Amino acid sequence: MVTIEDYEDYAKQRLPFGLLEYLQRGADKDATLGRNVEAFSKVKVIPRYLIDVSNRTTKAEALGKQFKLPIGISPSGLHKRWHPDGELATVRAAQSAGTIMIVSSAASVLFEDIAAEAPDAEKWLQIFMVDNKSVTYDFVKRAEESGFGALVVTIDMPVKALRYFNKKSDWKDQHKMVNYDRYDHPNRKPFLRDQATWAQLQELINSTALPVIVKGVLTPEDARLAYEHGAKGILISNHGGRQIDGTISTIEALSNIVKEFPEASLNGFEIYLDSGIRSGLDVFRALAIGAKFVFVGRAPMWGLFHSGQQGLENVMEILRNELETLMGQTGCNTLQDINSNLVQYQFPF
Ligand SMILES: Cc1cc2nc3c(=O)[nH]c(=O)nc-3n(C[C@H](O)[C@H](O)[C@H](O)COP(=O)(O)O)c2cc1C
Repeated sequence: MVTIEDYEDYAKQRLPFGLLEYLQRGADKDATLGRNVEAFSKVKVIPRYLIDVSNRTTKAEALGKQFKLPIGISPSGLHKRWHPDGELATVRAAQSAGTIMIVSSAASVLFEDIAAEAPDAEKWLQIFMVDNKSVTYDFVKRAEESGFGALVVTIDMPVKALRYFNKKSDWKDQHKMVNYDRYDHPNRKPFLRDQATWAQLQELINSTALPVIVKGVLTPEDARLAYEHGAKGILISNHGGRQIDGTISTIEALSNIVKEFPEASLNGFEIYLDSGIRSGLDVFRALAIGAKFVFVGRAPMWGLFHSGQQGLENVMEILRNELETLMGQTGCNTLQDINSNLVQYQFPF
């Protein structure tokens, strides 16, 4: 297994059809899914040479902590779908890779057990602001008590996407979102999110000492609102193309946000990105345009499906090594050297 595509191909050949569709597809016709990847390909690299690049390092920083690479693991539900060790394998891999795991609120292992499995890993908890506020606030408390380093509030799922293809396939999930089990929720009521507002986000931010990152931002307007309401950063995301089928890509959104909201980076507000990253080259492109850190959703799950912790670690190492190689090819020793002079692009394309 040499490339990210090797892991993807392995999953494509072996996963049952319904489950494979669930992982691979976006929403409806997969327009956003395709645009994410295509938009990255429009960002051309312009290398510089005859610079001593013998001190290359992919060392990165997020929320004041140090990591071995600027590439973390996006939250995705029910990792036991892909490997019997589920999130326990993922968090061990995050620990040995030296990066961040964002644990999904739809995890198949208890948050407390994930945290205990890899005490030195940096764990952030992804939450929704659900109608039953006591569930949201209890998740916050559990994150605080189990040593999570941040909360990631997902805002791009006010209502459930249609995803007709999941309805058409006869696939039924075998695994449970165990973290919800302890709450009384007739008719899955606590999962409703259509009443969440910026005011509620403010309340949540004021209620906790943990830094809050807003996930799912696609516009300068929402980036600014996140900043004004006290978030420490945003994760620019279109949910890997799984929600609205026809949004702009996240690399286009990043370009708009850094242009129209430049003061964010001056005040230590952090800008991250996910959706569509398939290589170290894509990571380079995102960093050059202005992301401080990126996250990957599907790629680590291909590794997890292939060989648990080890496969996932290898996926992260492939991405890191591709980034480090490209740094050497473009005159960069540190991530700070990767700047907008090293890329050329015109959006929208
Ligand atoms: C199978 C799957 C499950 C996901 N579950 C969640 C989730 O529970 N919460 C969330 O905020 N995002 C979820 N996402 C979105 C990811 O966090 C991330 O935004 C997306 O996968 C990034 O795109 P990429 O797969 O192209 O890297 C999920 C994505 C996938 C593929």
